[in-house]
Amino acid sequence: MSPPQRILLGVGAGIAAYKSLELARRLRERGAEVRAVLSPRARRLIAPLAFQAVTGQRARFELWDEEGEAGMSHIELARWAEAILLAPATADLIARLAHGLADDLLTTVCLASEAPLWIAPAMNRTMWAHPATQNNVRLLQTRGARLLGPASGAQACGEEGPGRMLEPDEIVAALCAPQALAGLRLLVTAGPTFEDIDPVRFIGNRSSGRMGFAIAAEAARQGARVTLISGPVALQTPIGVRRIDVRSAREMLAAVLAEIDDQDVFVAAAAVADYRPRELAEQKIKKGMAGMNLELEANPDILATVADLPRRPFLVGFAAETENLRANAMAKLAAKKLDLIAANWVGRPGQGFDAEENALLLLWPGGEREIPRMDKAEVARALLATMVERLESRASA
Ligand code: PMT
Repeated sequence: MSPPQRILLGVGAGIAAYKSLELARRLRERGAEVRAVLSPRARRLIAPLAFQAVTGQRARFELWDEEGEAGMSHIELARWAEAILLAPATADLIARLAHGLADDLLTTVCLASEAPLWIAPAMNRTMWAHPATQNNVRLLQTRGARLLGPASGAQACGEEGPGRMLEPDEIVAALCAPQALAGLRLLVTAGPTFEDIDPVRFIGNRSSGRMGFAIAAEAARQGARVTLISGPVALQTPIGVRRIDVRSAREMLAAVLAEIDDQDVFVAAAAVADYRPRELAEQKIKKGMAGMNLELEANPDILATVADLPRRPFLVGFAAETENLRANAMAKLAAKKLDLIAANWVGRPGQGFDAEENALLLLWPGGEREIPRMDKAEVARALLATMVERLESRASA
């Protein structure tokens, strides 16, 4: 997929708005059509006419603008955009978007559009670090928004730290980056599986699904066609991803086998239960005995099943370990005949299961790479970059 050609530039009321004129100019030099929408307060910092001069299009700032709406209604504007770029994105604009407000033209267009959303924050460093802003940013990221920056350095308020808007060149480079996964079909599993004991109880685990969802979201953003098979989780489907919900390991296996035929890559990030109760009680098991034994039987190994298919895709497995990370992951790489394995520590606070962050040790036959602890979206990006390298090296072998 080529870079977006119709870009809606949303300008928030930050002093960095003066850089947005340069940004619009650079985007136009790249051949993009740019339409600027200013927040009502941004208009007090920078004249809409300046954007009109640079973009060659009327800059909009009011929802109830009869002339503007007659030319292109806000819904048409939302449909027209191939990408929405918010630069500068103030703390207030980010908060309003995170909570679905549509109280001016810019937020209304964002809510009415299916176009990918790119956010270039610009604000005072304390406002950026505030948990409210951080939570809002994370919320937008889980819905597929892509964060550009902020950079760190001297700020307009005289302070020093993170919160500066990226330079126009940096923003343009990210927005117009080639889509590394265009044309690739990816099947991703995520989340836990639940193995029912009776109508009210089950065996499960602590997987939140975040790691697998982050991989699916990032792969879709980079142009892949992504199908996500998810165990029971409380996450929203990433933009552009087709999602199939399952409950148990056997349901997950059936869904994977139904989808696997045309896939180029299979990423198994799900924490599949290795065992299930031998019998499912039809009625709720009554309390009464001092103790009870639950007889378990092994679940199928989804990854190993796919590895044995006559036409197998490129296989990326995970290894969740509490000890001997490298050795255990190496053993799984070989035993499950994988092309790449992503080993992570579990049971360490703040990373792995049910955490916002993760760190991975990537292993493949003949090589390895460490991905340091960071947000799962960033980890997913680094994992996919290595996956692309391995795919290319396999193709050229
Ligand atoms: O979901 P999060 O909260 O974000 O947490 C992410 C994670 C820790 C769950 C994730 O990063 C991770 O490690 N997923 C794999 C967990 C796991 O089941 O690991 P394992 O070492 O037990 O299994 C090895 C591999 O075989 C995995 O790719 C697993 O999906 C696969 N497997 C396991 C058992 C089975 N019956 N079928 C399988 O396909």
